[in-house]
Amino acid sequence: MNLLRFDSEQAWIQSAASLWCDRLRTNPHLRMCLPSGHTPNKIYAEMGRSVAAGLVSFREAQVFALDDFGGLAPDDAGRCPNMLQRYLLDHVDLPKGRFHFIDTEAPDLERVCREYDALIESHGGFDLTLLGIGLNGHLGLNEPGSSPDSGTRRVDLHPTTIQASAAYLTHGNLPTWGVGVGLKHLLASREVWLLANGAKKAEIIRCVVKSEISVEVPASLLRRHPACLVFVDSEAGKQL
Ligand code: PGA
Repeated sequence: MNLLRFDSEQAWIQSAASLWCDRLRTNPHLRMCLPSGHTPNKIYAEMGRSVAAGLVSFREAQVFALDDFGGLAPDDAGRCPNMLQRYLLDHVDLPKGRFHFIDTEAPDLERVCREYDALIESHGGFDLTLLGIGLNGHLGLNEPGSSPDSGTRRVDLHPTTIQASAAYLTHGNLPTWGVGVGLKHLLASREVWLLANGAKKAEIIRCVVKSEISVEVPASLLRRHPACLVFVDSEAGKQL
């Protein structure tokens, strides 16, 4: 795990976006697993500006949504693919058929999960996975206790995750479950970037970097990953 600390949020944004542009230029077919949530949005905006400026293109790439909440209307602004659409995909040139997400409304969720894993595998796994971090150390919807071998699956959300979801919603009907890519494919990604900004994340980042590696803090498993970059701004890194 390589820790990259930045003095300002702006430097954190610029550095992640500029490295991401490099990765896409080196491999235009880059297969990416991308999160929604608040953390990546300013980096996504910067990628939109880079595409508009002709510095990079998503035309040949593949994007897999990391997860989604269950039980929300298809057009709910808080659904993860909708957030990815709004903050990234509306601003880059990725063709529609190259965006993959999990259909949490399908009657046979088990099957949808198996198919998503098969799709990821048929593309050869992820080249680059971006992740935010939950206050409980979760990665996507891999809550504490998740097995490193877990595949895409339905998950009951932890109380902190349910509470945090309120920030994405315009109503009080908070999700209690979701479906997310399992640790197996996240940990097998050729490269993983863990993104954290703001003082709220300082304690969990200290725990991820300094405490024991444990399934109780899923993000700590990234310490065994051969190519993991942790991007923290000064606030998120202040307990290190
Ligand atoms: P956030 O969520 O980016 O909105 O802080 C991160 C997460 O829960 O993984």
